[in-house]
Amino acid sequence: MCGIVGYAGTGNAAGEILAGLRRLEYRGYDSAGMALWNAETRRLDVVKSVGKIDSLEKRLKKELPATRSAYAMGIGHTRWATHGAPTPANAHPHVSDNGAFAVVHNGIIENYQTLKKRLAADGFSFKSETDSEVIAHLIQQCYEDDLTRAVSAALKNIKGTYGIVVISNLHPGVIVAARKGSPLAVGICRDKTIIASDISAIVQHTDRVIFLEDNDILTASANDIEVMSLNNIPISREMTHIDWDIEQIEKNGYKHFMLKEIYGQPEAIADATRGRLLEDEGSSKLDGMQMSAGEMASVDRVLILGCGTSLYSGMIGKYFFEDFADIPTEVQQSAEFRYRNPIIGDKTCVIALSQSGETADTLAAVREAMRKGATVLSICNVVGSTIARETGRGVYLHAGPEVGVASTKAFTCQLAVLAMMALRFGRTHRLSLQRGEEIVQSIRRLPEYIRAVLEQKNAIRKIAEKYAQFKNAFFIGRGYMYPAALEGALKLKEISYVHAEGYHAAELKHGPIALLGSDVPVVGLVPKIPGYDKTLSNLQESKARKSPVIAIATEGDRHIMEHCDDAIFIPECPEFISPTCAVVAEQLLAYYVAEKLGCEIDQPRNLAKSVTVE
Ligand code: M6R
Repeated sequence: MCGIVGYAGTGNAAGEILAGLRRLEYRGYDSAGMALWNAETRRLDVVKSVGKIDSLEKRLKKELPATRSAYAMGIGHTRWATHGAPTPANAHPHVSDNGAFAVVHNGIIENYQTLKKRLAADGFSFKSETDSEVIAHLIQQCYEDDLTRAVSAALKNIKGTYGIVVISNLHPGVIVAARKGSPLAVGICRDKTIIASDISAIVQHTDRVIFLEDNDILTASANDIEVMSLNNIPISREMTHIDWDIEQIEKNGYKHFMLKEIYGQPEAIADATRGRLLEDEGSSKLDGMQMSAGEMASVDRVLILGCGTSLYSGMIGKYFFEDFADIPTEVQQSAEFRYRNPIIGDKTCVIALSQSGETADTLAAVREAMRKGATVLSICNVVGSTIARETGRGVYLHAGPEVGVASTKAFTCQLAVLAMMALRFGRTHRLSLQRGEEIVQSIRRLPEYIRAVLEQKNAIRKIAEKYAQFKNAFFIGRGYMYPAALEGALKLKEISYVHAEGYHAAELKHGPIALLGSDVPVVGLVPKIPGYDKTLSNLQESKARKSPVIAIATEGDRHIMEHCDDAIFIPECPEFISPTCAVVAEQLLAYYVAEKLGCEIDQPRNLAKSVTVE
């Protein structure tokens, strides 16, 4: 969603903030802006633009009145429109009526209309349609002589969520930030402080980061930071070392981050499984779970929560838990869970899946599950993310930063971690040592299996180009292949804008078949696993309705061409590995369709990398 960068240092704030905003581009945005303290005029200069950062950069060059060295402090923002269209007026930063306070905001101010009316009655004039602008005016109204106190007083009026960073020409060199429900991290460097909504904008400066917690307020300068509660009580926050390096957030010669991340999956899986597989015990070692064998043995139900791709990996996780551990497992969409009155028993273990660790619905679902006393584990990729911190126990993917908006390596690493988790639970239930050893061996071979799929690149590209002009598509599968079909359809629609639906193959006859015809291809997931013959029949039904059929099948399946027009082959592998292989093939298929159609693959329209609002 929206991105924030704040900088207090010794010079070229514009350049530093611009570089930070570029690192946040992947989150999705439609306008951008910056406010800088001008040391020559001792005022705040504000520049905004609609569209990409390049256009903001052009405007900065044209419109900044002073030389770049005159700016040593500033705030920048990339906005993903919610309240009001993407226009320069609605872009952040928003400035108070008297021009003294500039604010960037992520989140949603729920009572902004009431506040706006009140402020307007008090004589404040509004220049935007946003909810965020009220914050700037409130700070002005609450200001006496202390910026931090003015911000905390202003925030006490606000209902909703926020991550804000504020500067004022009355306090040169001082930056104030506060958080409730919208992440903010502070990079600790020598001679400068960087505040950002996402560590991607910080890792080029430092690996030492403090994550603000809800209701924290930070006062920072180039050499100093102080965290307090909104009631001005000092708080100590732990420093986290981030193990991402700058190379990981560069494209490294790949045309898109998504392609780099697809190709990075063998290494990512190797990292996600390193040191975690116990051959001799036929089990896994996931210390972050902080559960004894006894505690795991007493779990009688698993509930997996997630959204989007994380929901689909959770659906595959259900099969792992039921197949390896005999534990009845349910998967729920996080928003659905949080707004129902979910049943949580004292032997239920909840697992929250989130690449970013910031997804608003999953976070809220985690909080609800914790309030109900459940054991809640998280599986996140981003170290120090809110879900990871709030659950306090779980497993990091160690997949490295995922920059492409379409999730790829996080998905396959989630599957690897879920398999290892289910294996560990299984060994405290009825899973035998021998079966455990087989599972360990198969997980170990995951990178090799994925490489075999990646080698099919040229064949997949040809098929993608052949079908790229179709406007609609179905993905069908059974068992492990059903969630893989949902994920394939999601990948295709999000990056190529082709309308794609994933269905259980058996559901085709219950309605969707009405839409089949020569202009609607069907991608059938038919590796040689249970359900194979039945899915072949569904492909025949599709062919009978003249739908072109693309099969994702097992290498060496000599009969598959009788049931399809084109085939993509994945290696022969155990059933529980097959969704990983099928999804890697689907990722490439979606990528090459999108490339053929000339789409903006890394930042698809309307999409954000991390969905921090409902
Ligand atoms: O960060 P999360 O895993 O919680 O994100 C969940 C979804 O927003 C995410 O998977 C989304 O569906 C991706 N764009 C899928 O490619």
